[in-house]
Amino acid sequence: MHDVKTDTNLAIRMRGVTKIFGDDPQSALALLQKDKSKSEVQAETGHVVGLDNVSLDIARGQIFVVMGLSGSGKSTLIRHVNRLIDPTAGEIIVEGRDVLKMSLPDLRTYRRNTVAMVFQKFGLLPHRSVIDNVAYGLEVRGVSKAERLERAAKWIETVGLSGYEQSRPRQLSGGQQQRVGLARALALDTDIILMDEAFSALDPLIRSGMQDQLVDLQKSLGKTILFITHDFDEALKIADRIAVLKDGAVQQEGKPEDIVLKPANEHIEEFVREVNKARAIHVRTIMERGSFEDCEYKVPADARCEDVLPYFAEHQWVGVTDDDGKQIGRVTAKRIIGALARYTPGVGES
Ligand SMILES: Nc1ncnc2c1ncn2[C@@H]1O[C@H](COP(=O)(O)OP(=O)(O)O)[C@@H](O)[C@H]1O
Ligand SMILES: [Mg+2]
Repeated sequence: MHDVKTDTNLAIRMRGVTKIFGDDPQSALALLQKDKSKSEVQAETGHVVGLDNVSLDIARGQIFVVMGLSGSGKSTLIRHVNRLIDPTAGEIIVEGRDVLKMSLPDLRTYRRNTVAMVFQKFGLLPHRSVIDNVAYGLEVRGVSKAERLERAAKWIETVGLSGYEQSRPRQLSGGQQQRVGLARALALDTDIILMDEAFSALDPLIRSGMQDQLVDLQKSLGKTILFITHDFDEALKIADRIAVLKDGAVQQEGKPEDIVLKPANEHIEEFVREVNKARAIHVRTIMERGSFEDCEYKVPADARCEDVLPYFAEHQWVGVTDDDGKQIGRVTAKRIIGALARYTPGVGES
């Protein structure tokens, strides 16, 4: 296989990836490289810029979210990772292998064993039962029937669908169908899971539950999840890191709180203005460090301000603990409110 020497902690690396849709992408590429915008390229050549010089490093074992409005290039980006789309220019390295140099058989193996995908519209096989849908990828891989059914049953239980093994997809709600889609991807036990607007079709409450479950699963399984959404709140809730796309180009990449606290441009400020900042900011960032009296209620340092707010109904202080559960500081309601107000663009500190 085509091994590329790379940082072993990296799951996915994209370098200068550009995708232009149309008959003569190279001539449109030349215009784009002369700093023409997506709309100028489209007006002059009729070609559509899908991605514009995207470079990203996605570390192993994190939830990396690509966020952007409809048409910003999110699906185009994720489809490069399993090479459903070939780029016009650029390089894509996944788990140290050059995806663009893979032969067809390599690519087939790669799609089966390295990257699994969860789709927005679930993509289930209608005439198969839930368990056969979940086991499908294993069947394609040649896993024996007994083993694949056993493994599928385990993942069905993990996503909370025990009892529905023999149901058909159409007998399930949207949220349940998406759990089947997730179980099917998890059953493949790939290191990387690609999720393209996987929760966008779900009702808000169901969606929120799925987000919590995804974060829990990621923590226990340690997979790399590349997650696409147009919803900034969703990105803030689940992401370890976020890249914001506009017109196919990355506007900003960083930790959720970096993006909320230091938006790189006006486009991102517009998103930030609308979001729940308490969700984006971790307690760690704003706690008072030091040894205080032991607090009755404590949260880990990576809790979000949003999670802490309810405690203030009854307590003045909430303790903050390190990984070993030792109290390393505290927060007050006043401190959190101060932080949220200060971080509103144009208010307080500049
Ligand atoms: N097969 C295609 N042919 C032509 N244009 C396309 C094709 N696929 C996507 N596009 C265009 O590329 C841009 C990015 O699309 P897409 O990646 O689907 O955006 P998103 O997923 O963020 O909504 C859009 O302008 C879209 O119209
Ligand atoms: Mg899309």
